[in-house]
Amino acid sequence: MSTIAREGVKATEPLRPEPATVVDVIEETPNIKSFRVVFDDPELMQSFTFLPGQVGQLGIVGVGESTFAISSPPSEKEYLQFSVMKTGEVTSALHELTPGDKVSLRAPLGCAFPTDEWKGKKVLVVGGGIGMAPLRCLFMHLMDHQEDYQRLQLIYGARTPRDICFTNDCKLWGEVEELDFITTIDTEHPEWTGRTGLVPHVLEEEAPDPANTIAVTCGPPIMIKYVLQSLEKLGFRDEQIFTTLERRMKCGIGFCGRCNIGPKYVCVDGPVFTLKELRELPDEH
Ligand SMILES: Cc1cc2nc3c(=O)[nH]c(=O)nc-3n(C[C@H](O)[C@H](O)[C@H](O)COP(=O)(O)OP(=O)(O)OC[C@H]3O[C@@H](n4cnc5c(N)ncnc54)[C@H](O)[C@@H]3O)c2cc1C
Ligand code: FES
Repeated sequence: MSTIAREGVKATEPLRPEPATVVDVIEETPNIKSFRVVFDDPELMQSFTFLPGQVGQLGIVGVGESTFAISSPPSEKEYLQFSVMKTGEVTSALHELTPGDKVSLRAPLGCAFPTDEWKGKKVLVVGGGIGMAPLRCLFMHLMDHQEDYQRLQLIYGARTPRDICFTNDCKLWGEVEELDFITTIDTEHPEWTGRTGLVPHVLEEEAPDPANTIAVTCGPPIMIKYVLQSLEKLGFRDEQIFTTLERRMKCGIGFCGRCNIGPKYVCVDGPVFTLKELRELPDEH
């Protein structure tokens, strides 16, 4: 799928991090922050393009770089957004950044969701936790081209109300009549009057019709496992289901061999795969 993403894409030199500046920081949840960044080179910023599902290597000089999905949509030309969960060295250093701080960025890397091939279909997006980062980008892109798709549905789950990311977007999506948007939290909570239940249960309750439908899911591995089972139960075939793999990356361009699973390199052949493609890989992902 990597060829789809590469066509016409204006990118940074794949191995040369470009200087960029943080222009805004949004506290999404107690351990997730979104960083809006702008390339220091105005020409690069103006010509930069990417597609939903692609990632960047965002870093801090002297600390290191890590892989993050671009969580803003391609139509957002003012900045690129990365939503980062604090897990270790690089992500903790990123969480210390404030507007005006410098970062490095190599992007876009990897392949994209083949949204052009989905035109005329219904698209069901199922996300949880930090898995909503690539899905926010995808969903906003689909909404930008809503007339091309038969129906857009998003089911987004978080553990508790405090763990819901992108709360402003969720509010807006909830107000758009043509969208079928559900937020659910795992169990009842005093601060929550909305839907409760684990994502796979809510998915089965909603029972979307698999006919002419593409399903996309990203989230914690345990959620993905049960969402895939639910989709199968509902009648979705492997080639109708897309997800992303979060295999650790280094070079991001197919050189170092850090991210391969059998013959596939997650950094260039992925991170987007169909379930059919994943089932053909050796059992180590
Ligand atoms: C294609 C892709 C897209 C990603 N998108 C996002 C995103 O949008 N937002 C986000 O917050 N994170 C994302 N990640 C994960 C992110 O890259 C890692 O969390 C990050 O590299 C951790 O860096 P660190 O230096 O803070 O952690 P480290 O100090 O290197 O590690 C901390 C702990 O996390 C584990 N860990 C680190 N990276 C991974 C990984 N990729 N898979 C499983 N365990 C890991 C380590 O084994 C260790 O236990 C993505 C990863 C990939 C490959
Ligand atoms: S990260 Fe180096 S080959 Fe994929």
